Amino acid sequence: MPIEINGRLIKNPIGLGAGIDKDGFLTPRIVRTGIGFITIGSVTLKPRTGNPKPRIIKYPGLKAMVNAMGLPSRGFLDFLVRLPGLVKEARKLGVYVIVSLAGFSIGEFLYMLDRIRVYDIDAVELNISSPTYHGSWLTDRKYLGDLLRLIEYFPKALFVKLPLGADMDFYRWIVDIANKRGYGLTIANTLPIRESRISVGYGGLSGYPIYPLVKALISKARKWGFGDLIIGLGGVMYGWQILDLMRNGANLVGVVTAFGFEGPFAFGRLFRELSMEVGERH
Ligand SMILES: Cc1cc2nc3c(=O)[nH]c(=O)nc-3n(C[C@H](O)[C@H](O)[C@H](O)COP(=O)(O)O)c2cc1C
Repeated sequence: MPIEINGRLIKNPIGLGAGIDKDGFLTPRIVRTGIGFITIGSVTLKPRTGNPKPRIIKYPGLKAMVNAMGLPSRGFLDFLVRLPGLVKEARKLGVYVIVSLAGFSIGEFLYMLDRIRVYDIDAVELNISSPTYHGSWLTDRKYLGDLLRLIEYFPKALFVKLPLGADMDFYRWIVDIANKRGYGLTIANTLPIRESRISVGYGGLSGYPIYPLVKALISKARKWGFGDLIIGLGGVMYGWQILDLMRNGANLVGVVTAFGFEGPFAFGRLFRELSMEVGERH
C-alpha cells in the first residue's frame, strides 16, 4: 500500500508511534521491519530519568497497558549527535522519519525546533499531551495557542499530538488552529487514568480499549473540515483496524502497545492480516 506523504513516496502507511524508541537506539533495527514510518522520542531538552518504577502495568487480557514513564530521555543534545546516523539508516530503507519532541515551556520547544530544522528528518511531532505534563499544556490554552503560533516558521512538517479525555471545545479549538496553520495531527496520546500500582498513582491507558475513542476523534476532526495529514494512533492491534482508521480519515497508522507486547513481530503480523483483509475485499 504505497502512499505519498508530503511529496515523499512511502512504502506503506504503517509505523511506530512515539515512546518505544525514545532515544533512537532501536531505530536501525526497527526500520528493517518493513514499516513505512518511525516516530523517535519523545526527546526532552534536558536528560531525565523519568518516574520511579513501577511505571508500566500491563493488562494482557485487555490488550492494554498503563504507563507513567515520565518522559525519560538522554536529552536533546545527546540525541542530536546520533541523529544523522539514525536518519541515514532510515533513508536507506525509505522510512519516513518523525522526531517527537517534548518541551516543558515554549522556550524549550523553540530551542529544539530551531536546532533540529537543519537535520534531514521528515517531520517533528509536538508532544503536548503526555500525562506527565499534568495537563499543563492543556489547561493553559493561551500558552498553548502562543506555542502553536510561534512555531509556524518551522520549515518541515509538524504534527501536533492530541490528548484523549479533553472536552469537545478544546478539540474544536486545536483542530481549527492546526487546520489554519497547516499542521498535521497525531490522534492520539494515552487516556489519563488512576492506577494505584504505578509509583505516581496515575498513568496513561493505551491499547485496544482506547480504539473507539481514537477512531471517533479522527472522524470528528474530518467532519470539522480538517484537511491536513492525520496519524491515527491508539489501540491498533489487528490488521482490519488499519483499514478502518484510514476509512475514517487517517493517512498513516501507528502502533505502540502492540509493539510493547509482541516487539517487532507485531508489524509482520499486522502486514499479513492487512493483506488478507485487502485480498478479501478485492
Ligand atoms: C510505554 C509507552 C511509552 C510512551 N511514550 C510516549 C512518548 O514518549 N511520547 C508520546 O508522545 N507518546 C508516548 N506514548 C503514547 C503512544 O505514542 C500512543 O499515543 C498511545 O500509546 C496510544 O497508542 P497504542 O494504543 O498503540 O499504544 C507512550 C505509550 C506507551 C505505552
